[in-house]
Amino acid sequence: MRLFLDTANVEEVRQASPLGVISGVTTNPSLAAKEGIGDLGSYKAAVLEILQLVDGPVSVEVTRLDAKGMVEQALEIVRWHPNIVVKLPSTMEGFEAMAVVVREGIKVNQTLCFSVNQALLGGIIGATYVSPFVGRLDDEGHDGMAVVADIVEVFKRYNMSTQVLAASIRHPLHVVAAAKAGAHAATIPLKVLTQMAHHPLTDVGVARFAQDWERAKIKV
Ligand code: E4P
Repeated sequence: MRLFLDTANVEEVRQASPLGVISGVTTNPSLAAKEGIGDLGSYKAAVLEILQLVDGPVSVEVTRLDAKGMVEQALEIVRWHPNIVVKLPSTMEGFEAMAVVVREGIKVNQTLCFSVNQALLGGIIGATYVSPFVGRLDDEGHDGMAVVADIVEVFKRYNMSTQVLAASIRHPLHVVAAAKAGAHAATIPLKVLTQMAHHPLTDVGVARFAQDWERAKIKV
C-alpha cells in the first residue's frame, strides 16, 4: 500500500519526504486556496516545488466545470511535469473530459467519488486512480470505508487496472481500515502521518532505554 501526502503546502512536503514513506502528493483547489494560491500560475509554482521533493505522482485538480474547459486545463497542466496526474471530478462533464484525456494518454485521478457506481464509470474509462472520499461520506452518516472496500472488490472481480486511492482521510484508523480493505493507496494529511508514527509506549520505551543507558555509563 502506498501513502500520498494530501497537501498543497510545500513545507509540509519538505517535512514529510525525509521519512521515505511518501510516494506522491495530492492537491485540490481548497488545499491550494489555504496556501493563498488563487490562480493557475501560482498553483503551478507550488506544484513544481513539490515535484522537486517527491519522486512520484502529484495530483493537480482542474478548476473549470465544463468538459471542454477541463480538457483544456488538463492538457495545460500535464505540460508542467511528467509526474503530474490530473484530477477530474465524478460529474457528467468530468467523465466526458476523462474519456478525452485518457485517450490522450494522460493519467487521471477521479476525484470527489462517493459511490461504487461513480468509481465504475472511471474504471471503465481508464482513470489511473479513483479517490473515494471516506471522511466526507462518514460526515454524512454513510460508511465511507465500506465504499472503498466495495470498489476494491468490484475492480478486482473485473481485473480493472484503476487504483483505489482512499481520500478525505481524517485519522489513523482510517488508514488501517483502508489498508485492510485493500486500497492501493491512501492520501493523508501531515497530521495523520505524524499520528501514525506516534505511540505513547514507544515514547516511554525510548526514554527508559536512554535513562538505563545513562545509569549504566555512570556505574562503569
Ligand atoms: C484528495 O485527493 C482529496 O481532495 C482530499 O483528501 C479531500 O479531503 P477533505 O475531505 O478532508 O477535504
